[in-house]
Amino acid sequence: MGPGFLIPAEGWFLWFNSPVLIHSASQLLTLAGGPQRGRSLGGLGIIEDGAVVVRDERILAVGTTDGLRRAFPDEPTLDAGRCVLMPGFVDPHTHLIWAGDRADEFEKKMGGMPYLDILAGGGGILSTVKATRTASIETLIAQTRPRLLRMFAHGTTTAEAKTGYGLQTSTELRLLKALLALDDESPLDLAITFMGAHAIAPEFKDDPQGYTDEVTHTMLPMLKEWWEAHAPRTPLPFVDVFCENKAFTLEQSRQILTKARSLGFPLKIHADEFDNLGGAALAAELGAASADHLVKTSDSDIDALGRSDTVAVALPCTPFGLAEADYTPARKLIEADAILALATDCNPGTSWNESMQFAIALACRYMKLTPAQAIAAATINSAHAIRRAESIGSIEVEKQADLLILSVSDYRQVGYRYGTNLVRQVIKRGRVYSVDVGYYRTA
Ligand code: NIG
Ligand code: FE
Repeated sequence: MGPGFLIPAEGWFLWFNSPVLIHSASQLLTLAGGPQRGRSLGGLGIIEDGAVVVRDERILAVGTTDGLRRAFPDEPTLDAGRCVLMPGFVDPHTHLIWAGDRADEFEKKMGGMPYLDILAGGGGILSTVKATRTASIETLIAQTRPRLLRMFAHGTTTAEAKTGYGLQTSTELRLLKALLALDDESPLDLAITFMGAHAIAPEFKDDPQGYTDEVTHTMLPMLKEWWEAHAPRTPLPFVDVFCENKAFTLEQSRQILTKARSLGFPLKIHADEFDNLGGAALAAELGAASADHLVKTSDSDIDALGRSDTVAVALPCTPFGLAEADYTPARKLIEADAILALATDCNPGTSWNESMQFAIALACRYMKLTPAQAIAAATINSAHAIRRAESIGSIEVEKQADLLILSVSDYRQVGYRYGTNLVRQVIKRGRVYSVDVGYYRTA
């Protein structure tokens, strides 16, 4: 993938390929040591005046500027200019691919009409389904590409991306094909999720169990066959279900996820966005990689997450997008020893936002996380939510060289400031992309 792809869209340029010594970071946030459970959340592993050596796509060495300059005197250098150097953000929950928009519904929602009532009336997710079903693969890719590039420019170096605006086999497969193509052409890596169970398909409006059976017995086996034929070298996608009133009941969610698990798919679930149906405990029981939303989650479901390896993914842009008062009870999840992560939930209905920096700003204010906790939740823990914490999410030797140079010298500026982009350069698999608008240092 060449720089020509980026220049017209965002005006960046490609600096050079590795190897390179990136030095003079005011604070190098390593996030070393693996996913951060419970009260251990927020360990940034800071190295002052830090440096990193990148070779090809990987991190070769991590240390101080002095130490690494001595050890690698001949490497070409990139000056971090006494700014923060940190791992790329990992966004573990997006509905990245759709056609059209729902600006009209936004106006209605702000006028007081509830989200689930709009869905029950055939709008909401279903109006995006209508637009998506009639869009060609070229249109879908063309409309999704700028979202993906905007995420990248805001520092997301890996994102999860769900299907779910097809709700019929042919369109769902078109969405998968488009996501595989976007993963291939773009600098950002995608972790793909199949979400045929995003809503009850309009054809099954009066027969939700019929659609549940269709997903379970027809779509999932077909998906497995299709994936093995079309993407044999890519691990199987996640399977996700919207466990919620007016979507899929707990039992229907269990049916779909159990079948998916038996076919070898890793699992995710949308749980407790509006009502507590027990989806989070189900995720823990089935060994899902994550349970997401978790706004109305009961104390016992929070405890179940705390005892599991299922990551609790909070999506603060969603209550913000819907102008609702309740956010994920992060402090309770931390006290229960859960692994907390953050994501944007980027989608056309509840949260059209591509920036993890904004998710962090909201998490600090409404979930009462410190900037350090929010940053850990948006890097190493979110990498674990897509089961990639072995290769991304922290700055450690042998890991993928996915890094950000920010335009600030103190990490607490992330969260404190919002609505603008604090990323100066994105380094993805060792390649440097500039988003330079100048920078601000406190010292
Ligand atoms: O995560 N809750 C279900 N899915 C999305 C909303 C999708 C839409 O409204 O288009 C969410 O909020
Ligand atoms: Fe979602």
